[in-house]
Amino acid sequence: MGLTIGVPKEVFPNEKRVATVPEVVEKLKKLGFAIAVESGAGVGADVSDEMFAAAGATVQPNAAALWSASDIVFKVRPPTMDEAALMKDGQTLISFIWPAQNPELMQALAAKKVNVLAMDCLPRMLSRAQKMDALTSMAGISGYRAVIEAANVFGRFFNGQITAAGKVPPAKIFIAGAGVAGLAAIGTAASMGAIVRANDTRAEVADQVKSLGGEFVKVDYAEEGSGGGGYAKVMSEGFQQAQREMYAQQAREVDIIITTALIPGKPAPKLITAEMVQSMKPGSVIVDMAAEQGGNCELTEPGKAVVKHGVTIVGYTDLASRLAKQSSTLYGTNLFRLTEELCKTKDGVINVNMEDDAIRGLTVIKDGAVTWPAPPPKLPPAPEPKPAAAPVAAKKAHGHGASSEPMATQTLVIMFAVAAGLFWFIGANAPAAFLGHFTVFVLACFVGYMVVWNVTPSLHTPLMSVTNAISSIIVIGALVQIAPPAVPGISRPDELIRWIALVGIGLTAVNMFGGFAVTRRMLAMFRK
Ligand code: NAI
Repeated sequence: MGLTIGVPKEVFPNEKRVATVPEVVEKLKKLGFAIAVESGAGVGADVSDEMFAAAGATVQPNAAALWSASDIVFKVRPPTMDEAALMKDGQTLISFIWPAQNPELMQALAAKKVNVLAMDCLPRMLSRAQKMDALTSMAGISGYRAVIEAANVFGRFFNGQITAAGKVPPAKIFIAGAGVAGLAAIGTAASMGAIVRANDTRAEVADQVKSLGGEFVKVDYAEEGSGGGGYAKVMSEGFQQAQREMYAQQAREVDIIITTALIPGKPAPKLITAEMVQSMKPGSVIVDMAAEQGGNCELTEPGKAVVKHGVTIVGYTDLASRLAKQSSTLYGTNLFRLTEELCKTKDGVINVNMEDDAIRGLTVIKDGAVTWPAPPPKLPPAPEPKPAAAPVAAKKAHGHGASSEPMATQTLVIMFAVAAGLFWFIGANAPAAFLGHFTVFVLACFVGYMVVWNVTPSLHTPLMSVTNAISSIIVIGALVQIAPPAVPGISRPDELIRWIALVGIGLTAVNMFGGFAVTRRMLAMFRK
């Protein structure tokens, strides 16, 4: 048997999540590891010791026994100083750590000559890292739960209804910050029938907001809010002023505000002032998901739901833990995916390979040496910020007499000359009918190419199915065959051919109607 992975019971007050679940235990065993869990570790997530044991884990009676029996420890919350003291040399800890916020913990861990992998330090922009991205999986759950918490205290339906007793207007929800959590909240609220609006300082999220059924509300001030790596930056005073005015107007109009705005390494931006809260209708709700980082609303009290000026302000800091079963399963799966990366040999032994960008980013302590912060990973070139730069570049090239342009023209002239020569050769030598068909064929290729070239790649599949449907135009051939002779003197085709034509029409009809139906369904996936 390989190394032992230990999962202690979380000690943070009211933390209900657990770092693994029985389904994941089974998968970890297949990688060659032995699994130990502390008795009661899964209770908050509805997993009993018996369920863990049935999946093949050993149950340890207490934390001390668990930590001492484990080579690798999986945790959710950063360890407390007491837990850090339980660590032994050579052990590996995989958990949320937040090294910037917990310098003393980092010191205590480094003193132990251990390896520490911080789930919050994963380089998220690496597409290979997405399956291990616990920040994203937890934020998605929190966003969903934030809407549920809002619905719980809000005194009305979310969706508009026409009942015998009268008409109910839909609830209006404003979401500040459309990162992972914000987008999850938008999707959830929209699916419950509310009118959803959202704002973010990063303009690139506008399309994502729309695709989830929300409306993006812009701040009337030109400034890009991207601070690199998909994260936001602190905005200028001018922008903040304009943003406050827009938020004040939204506060007067909407019933529920959910705030999710965060800037890495900075306190949460204060977006909702006390006056804005006061201007909201009585019975309105604010859910401040940034409560732990100081809150986006001035009146938030972290960890509590309070009523101020008739508005309930929910500042819970344990939203993911409130869906403990779901979050434990997703977090456990993120940890399993990471274990797969650490144990490619599937023999129950891990290799903390510092050459691997994802593992390098996660590793904050290696053999007792602090390796945080990691250098930024080598990312493939970002395709995004081109549009604004392109016209300028084009203009420049023009102004400077453009060295690449004559080259392109030259190539074009040569290609044209070759094509013309070829055409002349065919014209001179081939039969006359061939030239006619050939011209049509070349033009068809050209038109087809230009049409397809201008279609976004994601629409190529629906395009193919619609072209397939259109190609059923050949049905005309079959129709001619079964039609009574329109021109006097032309004899009817014989019976057999007419039957074959009939079958042909049937099959082509399937192709035609099926093709259009499939295209419709595919395009529906892009519409919202
Ligand atoms: P976050 O939790 O740090 O911030 C939440 C949101 O608040 C962000 O969208 C941010 O722009 C916004 N915000 C900050 N200050 C604001 C202000 N003053 N007013 C309004 N909004 C403000 O971000 P999160 O959710 O962790 O992720 C942010 C982005 O990271 C994602 O949208 C995505 O682009 C990127 N990401 C990429 C991944 C990948 O490529 N695999 C995985 C996860 C995230």
